[in-house]
Order: sequence, then C-alpha cells, then structure tokens
Amino acid sequence: MTDRYAVIGNPIGHSKSPLIHGSFATQTQQDLDYTAIEGRLDAFEADVRAFRSAGGKGLNVTAPFKLRAFELATDRLERARLAGATNALKFEGDRILADNFDGVGLVNDIQRNLGVELAGRRVLLLGAGGAARGAMLPFLAQRPATLVVVNRSIEKARALARETAPAGPVMACGFGDLAGERFDVVINATSASLRAELPPLPAEAFGGATLAYELAYGKGLTPFLRVAQNAGVPRLADGVGMLVEQAAEAFVWWRGVRPQTQGLIRQLTVPLT
Ligand code: ATR
Repeated sequence: MTDRYAVIGNPIGHSKSPLIHGSFATQTQQDLDYTAIEGRLDAFEADVRAFRSAGGKGLNVTAPFKLRAFELATDRLERARLAGATNALKFEGDRILADNFDGVGLVNDIQRNLGVELAGRRVLLLGAGGAARGAMLPFLAQRPATLVVVNRSIEKARALARETAPAGPVMACGFGDLAGERFDVVINATSASLRAELPPLPAEAFGGATLAYELAYGKGLTPFLRVAQNAGVPRLADGVGMLVEQAAEAFVWWRGVRPQTQGLIRQLTVPLT
C-alpha cells in the first residue's frame, strides 16, 4: 500500500512541499503519496488525528501550527525541544514523534550549497521570533566566533540569548547598538520582507560580509538583500535552499533515504533581481 504524507498549514495553497517531496519520491523510487491539507484553526489536533487514522505516516507542519504540533507530540526530539516548535511529525504506532529541521536546513544550505563555512565567523541574526529561534542552536553547533541576535524588541533577543548561551558565544542587542559593528554572515530571520519592509540595520554591518541570507523565499531582491547588494556583499541568497534542505532532512527521517537537492533548488529558484 502507498504510504501517505502531507503538509498541514493554514493557508496552504502556496506550499511547495508537495512538489518537493513528490520529486524526492520519484528520484529515490519511494512509493508514497504527499498532499497538502488546510488545517482548521479551531480543530488542528482533530485534523492530525484524522490523517493518522486514515493511515498517514508523517506530516510537515507549517504556519500557524508549529507550536500546536509540538504540544500534540508524545515524543519531542532535541531540536524540536530547543526550538519549542516542530515542523515535522512521524507516526509510529501510538506515538507521535516531533522534530524540527528548519535550522539544520538553513545551515546545510549555507555550508554545503553556498560554500560558506560558519566556523570562526561573526554571524548576525536579525529577528527573535519563531524562525530565528529555530536557527540559533544549529548555528551555534557550527562554532561561529560569535552569534549576535538583534531584534527591535530587545528583551526578546535577550531572552533567546540567555536560553541558548550554554551552547556557544551568543550575544543580544538592539539595532541601535550595531553602529560600527561588522559581520561575515548576515541572516534576515525577521518577517519584515513579507511586507516589503526593511529592518533598521546600519549598512556598515555588511562591511566585508561574504553572505547575506534572506529566510523568506521567492520574493526576488527584498529590501534587505538590496541593501546588502549595494554594500557590496558578493553572495546573496534567499530561503529556497533552506526550504528544500529541511524537506530533505524530513524525507531521510521518514524514509531512510537521502535525496539529491541541488537540481530542485535550481528549479525553484526565483532570480534575485
Ligand atoms: P516568525 O515565526 O516568522 O519568526 P514572529 O515569531 O512573528 O514570526 O517574529 C517576527 C520577527 O520579525 C520578530 O523578531 C519581529 O521583531 P519584534 O519582536 O521586535 O516585533 C521581527 N520584525 C517584523 N517586522 C520587522 C521590521 N519591519 N523590522 C525589524 N524587525 C521586524
């Protein structure tokens, strides 16, 4: 019987996950069916149970359900615990396992696909919401020289830095504290680009940077990437690689087979113009 998987979110029409997992399945000759489910805001848990009762083997979880999926799980793997959210569930008998591949997908994209090593680098992470939270520990695991998390509301950045401090050299600050600071890698994990807004980052923060990375994807040159380009940053990237890499990690978790990612990333890339 064909194994069933799906992505659940609300809204879900824009999701590229069915295309990505369908392509992985063809490539690795895995017999599976992967669909998209619009979860009900007032009945997400019932929708997950219904999918599972109908023989579902695993779910990807996207906005706004990542925290509720975490709560619903019976077993939370370390990365999900540290992020406080999950983006992938696996059903095994009575158990619901929860993991989170967003951060590792981002790190894999930066190091393997873009060829930028994080070890010994000065990394600046913009934002302290769910997206930034998921990235902190996978970044620190790569042993950067320093990881600075900057946020409009500085208390949120401080709380995140306090929580993750045992894992490495992390500091928190507000945008006003960045004057005169320079970084090697600058990552925009705020939701500003979704509204074509620009985080108040001084352009000199990019001075000498090798990479500017925008977590949002498919939006071309966002205000953040435009400032980085004008500052002379040689490598600009959006989150399409992270999207495909986190999917690959979930696929390995579910199926035990690692798909190739590079062709798909090329296919889904929207030029940064
Ligand atoms: P997500 O899950 O995408 O991270 P979130 O948890 O709502 O979404 O977090 C949004 C993040 O983007 C926050 O860090 C927010 O900053 P505040 O905590 O100060 O609100 C940040 N953000 C959103 N719009 C921004 C803007 N125009 N400039 C700077 N930061 C912005």
